[in-house]
Amino acid sequence: MIEAKNTELRALMDVLPIAIVILSGDDRSVRWINNHAELWLQKSRLYFVGKPISELSEFPEKLLALTGRVIETSGAVIAEDVPVHRWDDPEALCHVTAFPAGDDVALILRQHRRANMTGNSDQDIDAVESLGRMLAHELKNPLAGIKGAAQLLSTEITSDEGRELISLITTETDRIHRLADRMEAFGTIAVEAMGPVNIHTVLRQARLLAQSMNGNIIFEEDYDPSLPDVIGDQDALMQISLNLIKNAVEAIAHHKTGNQITLQTSYRAGVSRQETGRLQALPVEIKFIDNGPGIPPHIRRQLFQPFVTDKPAGRGLGLTLVSKLVHAHGGMIETKSKPGRTVFSILLPTYQYEDM
Ligand SMILES: Nc1ncnc2c1ncn2[C@@H]1O[C@H](COP(=O)(O)OP(=O)(O)OP(=O)(O)O)[C@@H](O)[C@H]1O
Ligand SMILES: [Mg+2]
Repeated sequence: MIEAKNTELRALMDVLPIAIVILSGDDRSVRWINNHAELWLQKSRLYFVGKPISELSEFPEKLLALTGRVIETSGAVIAEDVPVHRWDDPEALCHVTAFPAGDDVALILRQHRRANMTGNSDQDIDAVESLGRMLAHELKNPLAGIKGAAQLLSTEITSDEGRELISLITTETDRIHRLADRMEAFGTIAVEAMGPVNIHTVLRQARLLAQSMNGNIIFEEDYDPSLPDVIGDQDALMQISLNLIKNAVEAIAHHKTGNQITLQTSYRAGVSRQETGRLQALPVEIKFIDNGPGIPPHIRRQLFQPFVTDKPAGRGLGLTLVSKLVHAHGGMIETKSKPGRTVFSILLPTYQYEDM
């Protein structure tokens, strides 16, 4: 019975995109490692099983002390700066969460953040990127079919509204195809085509798309028409807007507490970001406001981390991508949330036209 449970548990641990190592409670030798740990440590499970803890680290004192504490207290212990012999970095310092697993001790290993990253650890990024590639590959298959079907339909539809929707399907499938191409190549969405973008064009298109999927939500648009163009990648800005609107729609629809989403733009002087030695002003503010239930408190601290979600079918990747894309624009993202009002603000630099 216990064996069966163990097998099930290990099968589950094998599909998780985090490195897990099980150490024997008796002599601290390695009992088992999961698939991701194999990748991460670049040695097979077969190699590790039965090996002493010194295989994991040349300086195993911290690991030993940590496992000792877990056994003593029968509770979870977290430690920072634990040296672990990672294949590409023999002196990698890890964040380790250790907890009791029957008579053994389970370790979750995470690499410390790289400086200047957007808050995701290397492992998280590896996991997101391989997921990205897989997803892109799968996405491209049905896209051609959708576009073909829309083109067939367009010959039969005569109303203006119908034609507008068909053209929406076509431009959106083209956009997803471009995104999928990029994701397949880079594992993530690279921000490539930086140029002047009228943010209102992007927001209007995103609103139209969201509205066509959710008739019950009232969208308000409150734009400052004098706003200058931002410097950005139109597809990536669309991706950001759609993800934030989708989250707002889902929060509202799921909890049935609100019914309104406001898209707002304004000029906000005074916010800058340090960019390789110089200050970059970020005066264009885009707000996505909803009157839904607010961000659940247990999600707030890790909002932008991958796989953080409170939705049964959620992947927890939307905001990870949003934060990555905003940072790739040299921009910033801010969040404020309470029941009845959630605001995601994006701050972006303006496009500097050459003097005529
Ligand atoms: N406007 C919002 N109102 C309330 N909660 C929100 C809002 N936006 C995000 N959240 C919370 O943040 C979590 C993470 O959002 P994120 O977009 O990263 O993932 P997701 O929406 O769950 O899944 P997906 O990968 O499909 O986007 C959500 O599950 C939700 O709990
Ligand atoms: Mg989302």
